[in-house]
Amino acid sequence: MKIICSIEELRDHLRGQLRTAFVPTMGSLHEGHLSLMRLARQHGDPVVASIFVNRLQFGPNEDFDKYPRTFQSDVEKLEKEGVYILFAPTEKDMYPEPQEYRVQPPDSLGNMLEGEFRPGFFSGVSTIVTKLFSCVQPRVAVFGKKDYQQLMSVRNMARQFAMPTEIIAAETYRAEDGLALSSRNAYLSDSERAEAPELYRVLNRVAQNIRNGNDDIGKHEQLAMRSLAERNWQPDYVAVRRRIDLQSPSADDIAQKTPLVVLAAAKLGKTRLIDNLEI
Ligand code: PAF
Repeated sequence: MKIICSIEELRDHLRGQLRTAFVPTMGSLHEGHLSLMRLARQHGDPVVASIFVNRLQFGPNEDFDKYPRTFQSDVEKLEKEGVYILFAPTEKDMYPEPQEYRVQPPDSLGNMLEGEFRPGFFSGVSTIVTKLFSCVQPRVAVFGKKDYQQLMSVRNMARQFAMPTEIIAAETYRAEDGLALSSRNAYLSDSERAEAPELYRVLNRVAQNIRNGNDDIGKHEQLAMRSLAERNWQPDYVAVRRRIDLQSPSADDIAQKTPLVVLAAAKLGKTRLIDNLEI
């Protein structure tokens, strides 16, 4: 595997490649990321991964500085997966001058759910993904469903800008007890790690109630928030939305069984976890 930091060198290596499959990451790689690499391999060749902790998508009080950085072990994992190039730019490589041009998602997607609690997050993600796509010029790029709203935002962006990159969705990778794998799980203490799968259990309860035809969605959302709070979580939201656009479902949507997804974000101690489940 070639490890490349500079955009120029990356372009030199990828010149003429028409089937590149790309997996952008912020490193601290776990099995979930590796499953994205495997999916990428099914959709293209060569597979290019990136590791870049993107300052633009972190708020001033968020965890940019302490975000786990495990470069050496990440490299070993990617090598085993047969990744051809790891693009690992420094901040200077990626942002040699202040990034004044930004990609702004629409308020209807960018300011709700995650966007409400992490202002600027989706603009930061859209900007770096656009820039990474411009560097790698992939035919396909793989994003995990764990970050459901991010996946939707990137997919809409790629479509609206007529980017020549197909966005592929990968299923969420879970530990045996149901916890969705995330680099931020590394922040959890042992007792928090034991409690963490409760988020997925709560999502399952909401989904099951709705599947059983109990369609008072507001009630399920509130009960879910309360049950998390009773176990000392600080929930930001538990929200049932339409899969197609993440808007709240109308009575007609419920009657017509429009595909839904339940999404949640909550803090356990100091660690903020997100998860979702398609209903
Ligand atoms: O999901 C992530 O790891 C990041 O948001 C991404 C897509 C690599 C952009 O920095």
